[in-house]
Amino acid sequence: MRRVFLTLAVLAGFGFAGAVAVVGLGLYNVSAQVGHWPGVSWVLHTTFRNSVALRAPSMEDAPDLSDPDLIALGASHYATACTPCHAAPGEQRSATMQAMVPAPPHIDEAVAHWKPNEMHWIVENGIKMSGMPAWPAKERDDEVWSVVAYLAAVKVENAPTLPDVTGDTKSYCTACHERMGGRVPRLDILEPDYIAEKLREYRDGTRPSGIMAQAASLVPTGEMAALTTGFSGRATDRDVADVDPVLLGRGEELARRGTRDIPTCLACHGGDAANRRGPAIAGQPEAFLKVQMELWHDGIYDADPLMHAAARELTEEDIEALAAYFSRLQP
Ligand code: HEC
Ligand code: HEC
Ligand code: HEC
Repeated sequence: MRRVFLTLAVLAGFGFAGAVAVVGLGLYNVSAQVGHWPGVSWVLHTTFRNSVALRAPSMEDAPDLSDPDLIALGASHYATACTPCHAAPGEQRSATMQAMVPAPPHIDEAVAHWKPNEMHWIVENGIKMSGMPAWPAKERDDEVWSVVAYLAAVKVENAPTLPDVTGDTKSYCTACHERMGGRVPRLDILEPDYIAEKLREYRDGTRPSGIMAQAASLVPTGEMAALTTGFSGRATDRDVADVDPVLLGRGEELARRGTRDIPTCLACHGGDAANRRGPAIAGQPEAFLKVQMELWHDGIYDADPLMHAAARELTEEDIEALAAYFSRLQP
C-alpha cells in the first residue's frame, strides 16, 4: 500500500515538474499560426456547446423578438460592435480577423447552430480565451435581447440592412434617436446639460447601458459638447396603439397624486424646465419608460436616491400604467 502511494507521489512530482517547465520555461507555443494540438479544438468546442446549453436563460424572460423596433435597435448596435469581427450579412470578414484563433465565424454561420436563448447567453457573457467579448454593461441582460432579435432575423434571412455608420457623429446618434421608438428615447425634449451629463455617465459606466456605452465611446472627446443640442423628435408618427382607459386613468392618478408610498411623479417631472427636478418624460416611447422604471425599481441604476425611492414601491401594473400615461402625454 505504501509503495502505491509512493509511486503516485513520484508521478505527481514529475507531472508538476513538467507543468512548471512548460509554464516557466515557455515550452508551450502560444503562436496563433500553429493552432491547437489535435483534439484540443474538439474538447474546447464541445465544452463550449455544453456550457452554453446548460446556462442559457429561459425563453419566458424574452420580449417579442419579432418587434421591428427591437430588431432595428439590435441592428444598429451590431453595426459598430460586432461587424469588425463577424462582418455584415453578405460581406466578407477582414483577412486579419480570419487569422484569429479561433476565428470569429461569419455572422451567417455564427447564428446557424444556436437557439435565441443560447445566443443571448453568448452575447451577454462572451467566451473566455477566444476574443468573443462580454456585454459591456453587467446587469443589462435586458438590452442583449435587441441584438438577439437582430441575429434571429438574420437566421431566417429577414433582417433589415445595417445602417451606414460611416457618416458624421451626429447622424450616427440620430439614426437611433430620431428614427426608432421602442427602447430608444427622444432627445429633443431634454436639456443640453442633462444630455452632456448622461453621455459622461454612459462613457464611464455610472449609468449602465451596453448600447449607449458603445455609442458614447465612439465619440471623439472634442465632439461631445456639440452633441447636446439640435435634436428633433421621431421622424415618423409614434405608434400609439389603443390602450385600456382604466389603465390610463390609473397612470394619471399615480402621476398626479401618488399614494402613501409613491410620491407624485409630476412634482419632479412636470411643469417647465426651470422648475423640474428630473428630466422631461412626457412623450417618451412607452417601452423606454417601462425599461427605465424597472431599472430604477430594481436598483440597477440608482444614481438619484429620491428617484430610486419613488420607483421602489411601484408594482408591475403601476409601471405599465405610468408608461402608458406618460408616453401619451404631450411634451
Ligand atoms: C473581437 C472580435 C469579436 C467581436 C467584436 C465579437 N465577437 Fe462574437 N465571436 C468572436 C469569436 C472569436 C467567436 C468564436 C468563439 C469560439 O468558437 O470559441 C465568436 C462567437 C460568437 C457567437 C457564437 C458562434 C459560434 O458558433 O461560435 C455569436 C452568436 C457571436 N459571437 C455574436 C457576436 C455579437 C452579436 C457581437 C457583437 C455584440 C460579437 N459577437 C462581437 C469574436 C468576436
Ligand atoms: C444603437 C442605437 C443608439 C445610438 C447609435 C445612440 N443611442 Fe443614445 N440611447 C440609445 C438607447 C437604447 C438609450 C437608452 C439606454 C438606457 O437604457 O439607459 C439611449 C439613451 C441616450 C441618452 C439618455 C436619454 C435620457 O432620456 O436619459 C442620451 C443623452 C443619449 N442616448 C445620447 C446619444 C448621443 C449623443 C448619441 C450619439 C453619440 C447616441 N445617443 C447614440 C440608443 C442609441
Ligand atoms: C424627487 C423627484 C422625483 C420624483 C418624485 C420622481 N422622479 Fe423620476 N427622476 C428624477 C430624476 C432626478 C431623474 C434623473 C436621474 C438621473 O438620471 O440621474 C429621474 C428619472 C426618471 C426616469 C428616466 C428618464 C430618462 O429620461 O432617463 C423615469 C422614466 C422616471 N424618472 C419616472 C418617474 C415616475 C414614473 C415617477 C413617479 C412614480 C417619478 N419618476 C418620480 C426625479 C424624480
